[in-house]
Amino acid sequence: MFKIREKEELAPGIIRMRVEAPRVAASAKPGQFVIVRADEHGERVPLTIADYDAAEGTVTIVTQMIGVSTRKICALEQGEALADFAGPLGRPSEFVSCPPEELRSKRFLFVAGGVGTAPVYPQVKWLHARGVRADVIIGAKTRDMLIYVDEMRAVADHLHIATDDGSEGVKGMVTDVIRDLVEKRGEHYDECVAIGPMIMMKFVALTTRPYGLKTTVSLNALMVDGTGMCGACRVTVGGRTRFTCVDGPEFDGHAVDFDEAMRRQGMYRTQEERARAIAAERAAGHQCRIGLDK
Ligand code: NAD
Ligand code: FES
Repeated sequence: MFKIREKEELAPGIIRMRVEAPRVAASAKPGQFVIVRADEHGERVPLTIADYDAAEGTVTIVTQMIGVSTRKICALEQGEALADFAGPLGRPSEFVSCPPEELRSKRFLFVAGGVGTAPVYPQVKWLHARGVRADVIIGAKTRDMLIYVDEMRAVADHLHIATDDGSEGVKGMVTDVIRDLVEKRGEHYDECVAIGPMIMMKFVALTTRPYGLKTTVSLNALMVDGTGMCGACRVTVGGRTRFTCVDGPEFDGHAVDFDEAMRRQGMYRTQEERARAIAAERAAGHQCRIGLDK
């Protein structure tokens, strides 16, 4: 069992938990993920690591309450425990294996969308600790949904904020900020890393392609085993089938078939909606008939 040492609501429906997982914390690197189960009957939920502290033996995860399983995880309180916390899984970010002198000659642009802002943080923090320059763009629907602003300000060279409704920072999408920085202000970047909703990563990659700006994306594909056995997380990258859990989660954004990845992501929507309806019926104390008629 993995005890929740701290729990905090960062924004409506977005929960940060610092979890006691010493073995995961000891070997975690930026870009990796864990697979979490709330209890022994729970679904396995992949979550990109949002921070880790080897000395404290803790790993931080940020979960958005979307479906039944993420709600179960978020319902656990400080002092309670998660049944499973497997990891670190996947490959670390490519820059982790790059010589520090080479990294220091580069300038990074991180693009963080919504809940995807949390896994961007350990990457920028890691680079900042090694004296590498990194600007960050955070995009969110509204000011209330912005997360990790103070944390990011402490490690980024420049922080840019965009909200869809203009309630904080620039009114618009993260891609508007990229265009403004590169085309109007003449900023030069050597690498871009984008983490957020699939549609955002697709459009970031389309925006950076004409600039010839290398762009890495972190794919949140559906996963089952997380060990390369089941094929649930397969994506097409550069015309080749790759498994997000063992070959990723980070891939070349200019080579990912995003349309296929988005179709696959929506594959279990009907089952998920049914599970949500059953949970709501149970919570209301009704005898559940959903799914029994078939
Ligand atoms: P959101 O819908 O609020 O979008 C965040 C920002 O992305 C927007 O403010 C906008 O600036 C940008 N964006 C969205 N659509 C765009 C488009 N078409 N063109 C350009 N920019 C666009 O984000 P959310 O509601 O927090 O997203 C939740 C999703 O993120 C979930 O599907 C979740 O699975 C995913 N997610 C992904 C990762 C990952 O590792 N890739 C991590 C956490 C969450
Ligand atoms: Fe099964 Fe990746 S989750 S192969």
